[in-house]
Amino acid sequence: MRATYRSFAKVNLHLEVLGPRPDGYHELRTIFQSVDLCDLVSLEVEGRGVRLEVADRSLPSDERNLAHQAATTFLARWPLVDGIRITLEKRIPVGGGLGGGSSNAAAVLQGLRDLLDVRQATDLQLEELGRDLGADVPFFLTGGTALGLGRGDEIEPLPDLPERDILLVTPALEVSTASVFREYGELTPDQEVSSMGRLAWEEGVDWGMAAMGRNDLEPLVRRRFPEVGHVYNALVEAGASLVRLSGSGSTWFACFDDSTESAELERALPPGCRVCRARTMNRASLQRLRVVQ
Ligand code: C5P
Repeated sequence: MRATYRSFAKVNLHLEVLGPRPDGYHELRTIFQSVDLCDLVSLEVEGRGVRLEVADRSLPSDERNLAHQAATTFLARWPLVDGIRITLEKRIPVGGGLGGGSSNAAAVLQGLRDLLDVRQATDLQLEELGRDLGADVPFFLTGGTALGLGRGDEIEPLPDLPERDILLVTPALEVSTASVFREYGELTPDQEVSSMGRLAWEEGVDWGMAAMGRNDLEPLVRRRFPEVGHVYNALVEAGASLVRLSGSGSTWFACFDDSTESAELERALPPGCRVCRARTMNRASLQRLRVVQ
C-alpha cells in the first residue's frame, strides 16, 4: 500500500497580533490562503515504527520533523499497522513563512486516514491531533481561504477567494518563527485593531479587501533582516499592487494587476532570492489535486 499526496503551501493575507497569551503563544487574527506551490509526501505501509526519508539534507528526518511526529501521533491513536515509511520531496522553502512543515504534517494525517481507510478518524479528531503538532496545522486540514483565531489554530473557513496568480519571493535566509514572536512579545507594540478580521467574517474577503490587510510582524522582520526589506522595495518598484510578508517571513507574496511583472525585477532582487510564480487555490482545487495519480 502506497500513495503520494501534494502538500500545498499557504500565505497569510492578513496577520494581526492581538497580544501575548498565558500559554506563551500570541493571540492572532489571521487570514490564510492556500497556494499551489507544494511538497510531495509519499506514504507506504512498511517495516516497524516510522521511517522518514527527506531528500533535502538540511532538514531532520527524525522525530524533530513534523511529518514524522504526525505519523507517530496517528499510529499511537489508530495502531492499525506496524510501520510507515514517509518520503518527503521538498519544494516549499524552509523557514519561509509558507507553512511547509505544518502542511506536511497535515498531509500525513489525512494521507494515513485515506491509505489505512480509518473511517472513524473524524475531521475534528485530526484537527485535535494537528493542533498539538503546530499552530498552523489545523489550517492545512481545511485549506482555501480561512480565518485563523486563537493561536491561529481555530479555523473558520471563509468563502474562497477567486484564484489568481501571485509571485512568491524568498530571500536566502531562514527566519525562526519562535524568535520573531519572542522579540515581538518583548516590544509589545501598541497596534490599532484592524477591521479586516471582522469584515472577512461578516462579508468574506475579496482581493480589494485583501490589499487593505497587514502583517504586524513585518516591521520587526524588516528591521532584523535588512535584506527582507530590499525585496519589498524591489517588488513595489516593479509595480506590484499588493506586497505582503507571509507569516514571520522571509517570503513576500506579490500581486501584479497586469500580470507582466517587470523583467528588471529579478535583477533588482538581492542575490540568492528564490522567485516562484504560483497561484492561489480554492478548496475544490485542493481536493482535486491532493492525490498524485
Ligand atoms: O505552533 P508552532 O510550533 O508552529 O509555532 C512556532 C512558535 O511560534 C511557537 O513556539 C511560539 O513561540 C510562536 N507562536 C506564537 N504565537 C502563535 C503561533 C506561534 O507565539 N500564535
